[in-house]
Amino acid sequence: MKKDFLKIKDLSKEEIFRIFDITKYFKSLKKEKKITDHLKNLTIGLLFSKPSTRTRLSFEVAIYQLGGFPIYLASESTQISRGESIKDTARVISKYIDGIIIRTYSQEEIEEFAKYSEIPVINALTDLYHPVQILCDFYTIYEKKGILENIKITYIGDGNNICNTLIEGCDLLGIEIRVSCPEEYMPDEKVIKNLSNKKILKISSIPDAFIEDADIIYTDTWVSMGDEKEREKRLKIFKEYQINKKLLKKAKKDFLFMHCLPAHRGEEVVDEIIDSPNSIVIEQAENRLYTQKGLLCFIFEKI
Ligand code: CP
Ligand code: NVA
Repeated sequence: MKKDFLKIKDLSKEEIFRIFDITKYFKSLKKEKKITDHLKNLTIGLLFSKPSTRTRLSFEVAIYQLGGFPIYLASESTQISRGESIKDTARVISKYIDGIIIRTYSQEEIEEFAKYSEIPVINALTDLYHPVQILCDFYTIYEKKGILENIKITYIGDGNNICNTLIEGCDLLGIEIRVSCPEEYMPDEKVIKNLSNKKILKISSIPDAFIEDADIIYTDTWVSMGDEKEREKRLKIFKEYQINKKLLKKAKKDFLFMHCLPAHRGEEVVDEIIDSPNSIVIEQAENRLYTQKGLLCFIFEKI
């Protein structure tokens, strides 16, 4: 049966650690720059309706370095933009290529695609979730801390796709997650309702409610792709949630600052924090390449 990766809970805890092992193996080969044949003879499409730097490039490079062939399709250049149905597109694409990585707006759309597709579908971000990012973020935390148990994660800002996926991932892995969001921008209600262990999540609208014992302090943009019309309103509402020295006054000395990037410096975070020794955002972004390799080998059962 084909394996899709549409949400973080499509993987089990054991599978996540298996992907981490593969990821670690590929990262250890970093300097060799060798092209392997794990994805030999496989053609993998990237169908994107939103911009991307990291996700697109890390997947394209990963596929290439694993001996496969990536094809990028901007969805506005396809017949989807002229009204061809997801059902027909998914069924036709399945006849040409071996897997498809999709970045789009609605989670339902990607689920519909997966339903009609004969090939694996990977979610490269929707308005609701960003599972390939969070898979990488857990790997980065694991790499830095050597464990995932007993880590305390604090997310501050918009209850968006990153926040929703982080919450579901923490539920899956049994990690404590504390979230500070304005009342109007809380995480998705269904995500909260469907938690298997409600105790892992604490939520507050007080920006510095969960700073003191946080091992990880994570934020993301206040204006996600698709939210641009609300930009001015959001900048006002989120002002107090900016990650700066004042907000982090009570933080542990060795907290790690994370951000999926792109960052909007001077909005959700200031230079002083994102450029500080506590910040691991560049390593976090670098690991995207290796976790994509781990994920692809797992999905295509090539290791
Ligand atoms: N973090 C992330 O997904 O970045 P891109 O939008 O550049 O792919
Ligand atoms: N929340 C952001 C993540 C970008 C990688 C967005 O959806 O635009």
